[in-house]
Amino acid sequence: MGKVVIMDHPLVAHKLTIMRDKNTSVKDFRELVSEIGMLITYEATRDLPMTTKHIETPICEMDAPTLAGRKFVVVPILRAGLGLVDGVLRMVPAARVGHIGMYRDEETLEPHPYFCKMPKDVAERDVLIVDPMLATGGSAAEAIGEMKKRGCKHIKLMVLVAAPEGIKFLQEKHPDVDIYAGALDDHLNEKGYIVPGLGDAGDRIFGTK
Ligand code: PRP
Ligand code: URA
Repeated sequence: MGKVVIMDHPLVAHKLTIMRDKNTSVKDFRELVSEIGMLITYEATRDLPMTTKHIETPICEMDAPTLAGRKFVVVPILRAGLGLVDGVLRMVPAARVGHIGMYRDEETLEPHPYFCKMPKDVAERDVLIVDPMLATGGSAAEAIGEMKKRGCKHIKLMVLVAAPEGIKFLQEKHPDVDIYAGALDDHLNEKGYIVPGLGDAGDRIFGTK
């Protein structure tokens, strides 16, 4: 079974509280998505393979640790996932970016894919799918399925806020995928929104409401 890592860190908790506040501005909300994205990336990259490199410090020679340089791709689920990309890229600047377009039908809550553009060698890359919200889990499960269809084997999912229902659904559909979340909330309401949550992440990032 894949790991579920819920961030237990004062900075993440503090920043999420500001994001949850309905009076937080679009500008601040957007900046916080990016900052928390950076902090969760730190945790989600903890098991990146390492090698050593022979260098000379001003004092002596040493075999120093360095990333083994495995290929990496970050995959935002449009639209809201876009808000997390720059935080990831600040930590892993050489990563490629693939895009998956998907929206959730507000009545049925079913995901509808509308776009997919990946680097050619995506099957050889470690994949980090990013989306601020894991609600029913339908969108993330569909996105993971798209990546598996393209031959990807090492897939992780990073979200800011997760609902228990979404985690359970993903563990059933894709038990091999590790999930990293800024917070685990209480439940979904009758409209499929996370409670207490932070509302519609895409609308709050892009100011469309
Ligand atoms: C939101 C969110 C996730 C999805 C989560 O996107 O960003 O992609 O809902 O819900 P689920 O786990 O029940 O599938 P939305 O469909 O509102 O599109 P947007 O990013 O364009 O706002
Ligand atoms: N998508 C969102 O943006 N927010 C939720 O609470 C659930 C799905």
